[in-house]
Amino acid sequence: MPADRVLADSFDLRRLADAFYDDPYPTYRALREQAPVKRMADGSVFLSRYADVVAVYKDSGVFSSDKHEEFAPKYGDSPLFEHHTTSLVFNDPPLHTRVRRLIAGALTPRHIAAMEARLVDRVDHLLDAMAARGGGAEVDLIAAFASAIPVEIIGNLLDIPNEERAPLRDWSLAILGALEPTLSEAQRERGNRAVREFLLYLAGLVERRRAAPGDPEVDVLSRLIAGEGGEALSAAELLHNCIFLLNAGHETTTNLIGNGLAALLAWPDEKARLLAEPTLMRSAVEEFLRFESSNQLGNRITTCATEIGGVALAPRTQVTLGIASANRDAETFADPDRLDVGRAPNRHVAFGSGIHQCVGMGLARLEGRVAIGRFLARFPRYRLAAPAVRARRARFRGHARLLAIVDPLPALS
Ligand code: HEM
Repeated sequence: MPADRVLADSFDLRRLADAFYDDPYPTYRALREQAPVKRMADGSVFLSRYADVVAVYKDSGVFSSDKHEEFAPKYGDSPLFEHHTTSLVFNDPPLHTRVRRLIAGALTPRHIAAMEARLVDRVDHLLDAMAARGGGAEVDLIAAFASAIPVEIIGNLLDIPNEERAPLRDWSLAILGALEPTLSEAQRERGNRAVREFLLYLAGLVERRRAAPGDPEVDVLSRLIAGEGGEALSAAELLHNCIFLLNAGHETTTNLIGNGLAALLAWPDEKARLLAEPTLMRSAVEEFLRFESSNQLGNRITTCATEIGGVALAPRTQVTLGIASANRDAETFADPDRLDVGRAPNRHVAFGSGIHQCVGMGLARLEGRVAIGRFLARFPRYRLAAPAVRARRARFRGHARLLAIVDPLPALS
């Protein structure tokens, strides 16, 4: 049997081979070519073609985001279940619309532009700290750089005091880690503990903010507390959506920065091109998002009998959207397995599409541009000190460790 047929036939999100975590793209290509609407052992389907993924995103009436049915057996009656089923991303209108409007109002292009100066300061501070280690220093670009940026930006968005930000990243990793297709008992326990601790922390923060409200123009927490049109969120909706917002902006953006820096090392000609033409940074960020999508999978459930890619689906069929696969579809992207920092057009679906399209995408793009652009300008000769270590996750693709040697450019005299 041809290798692609074997890969497609044996694919099951709940039983992924080690090689898949290193490089999922050969499997995604095999699926697109051999089984674009792949039925899995649990009755769900996996979509790998761009056209099918986009069609699902566009039809939120037939393809619901509500996760009560999917998450009940996965989490049981638990903090993780309550959290994920209360987040806007895993709900349909009207809850989704109410929460989204409140968040989106503080993330307009004008608000995002106003965040740039503080972001540049933060990034330069991190770069200074790396440079201070001296030429030839080995630095983990994830711990020392990529993960340190989003935590600050999202912390600023909710105006979380600086000295209280330390636990945010671990809570976030534990809660999002529990979204993997399969879950160990230890992961489940870690996720539930993180939700409990996060809720306790946020309840205190909300109390303080109610006593001393921030500027609702820029402070998302004050906006969520105030609600809109006399319609405030319930206490649980408020806390869980704050947790979601903090999580949504963390690992995804860390991975955009880490994946971008790693991809440039694997494609030295593209790195040289970007160094020679820094104005390509905008399109380069889009290409990193397409080429190594930080969020590789999406999920929906059918509300009625329907059809996708010529395959009939019964009501209540769970559908996994292969975002990363769609972004490598040769029907839409020329030479899709090649990194091209100047790619245009580049209509990737790394931020999803339709009514749930990422509300933070403007912010994520800005973070990617500033972080990668300023890093490259400062350390153009950076290189790996050890093989990159991938985090073994199917949904959120990134690195656990990216140990690099960073040599600052000699100062001009
Ligand atoms: C590279 C970084 C990011 C990626 C790849 C990403 C990806 C995504 C995707 C694919 C969705 C759609 C989910 C679905 O349709 O089921 C989404 C939704 C969302 N994202 Fe992002 N995201 C990123 C950064 C951020 C940031 C920085 C924030 C916050 C400031 C954020 C906040 C949200 C929110 C609130 C939603 C839910 C929107 C809704 O349900 O209407 N994201 N994101």
